[in-house]
Amino acid sequence: MRRQSLIAIALGALVLAAGTLPPTLAQNTPAPNAPAPEMTALTSQKDTTLARRLLMNSIGANNDIVHDILDGALPADDLELRGRLDSIAAMLYAMPSLYRAAPNPYTEEGEREDATHVSLASEAVWEYFEDFQLRSEEAFLKAREAAQAHPEDMLARVEELEMMCESCHESFRKPFEYFDFDRVQDFVK
Ligand code: HEC
Repeated sequence: MRRQSLIAIALGALVLAAGTLPPTLAQNTPAPNAPAPEMTALTSQKDTTLARRLLMNSIGANNDIVHDILDGALPADDLELRGRLDSIAAMLYAMPSLYRAAPNPYTEEGEREDATHVSLASEAVWEYFEDFQLRSEEAFLKAREAAQAHPEDMLARVEELEMMCESCHESFRKPFEYFDFDRVQDFVK
């Protein structure tokens, strides 16, 4: 009992001390998404926004073709299926690396100003970046699993992957019912 109250007093003192840090020390506490010194980039926020949209657009186009092949709407080609799924996996792995520390989520004003460099990402990407990164990695692993699956299991793995796409979009992408995704290709000059 006595020991416990001593620990409680010690903890209380620590909490108090943390609340009264001198301003210089308090300012040095990193913000949740503050980049570590080795996190540098030689490209701009603008470049990276268009790059990640092209990347996601290509994930979407590849996935449509994979699904059409598995549904029998396009001719079956085992090598092509596996190659496309491997590409989807690589792109999902690369995607979180295309976000800058400074947020640039979608806004209507942003789109009016410069539709080619507006992001479709929502604020949640920056707010919960670790979760976002984890979900990208899980989707990468699922796409790789699909690429290596037995032909009979491939459709099931692809459908599991598609559920991951949708659930991530619900949490991290702005809803875009009106948006013509293929238009992104025209943004590259
Ligand atoms: C971990 C989260 C996550 C996963 C997994 C994910 N996406 Fe996305 N997707 C996003 C975000 C965020 C954006 C908006 C990107 C931006 O503009 O910064 C996006 C954008 C897109 C776009 C629009 C691209 C454009 O700008 O025209 C398409 C299409 C798309 N995703 C398809 C897919 C498909 C298909 C899958 C699964 C195979 C998938 N995504 C998996 C988060 C995800």
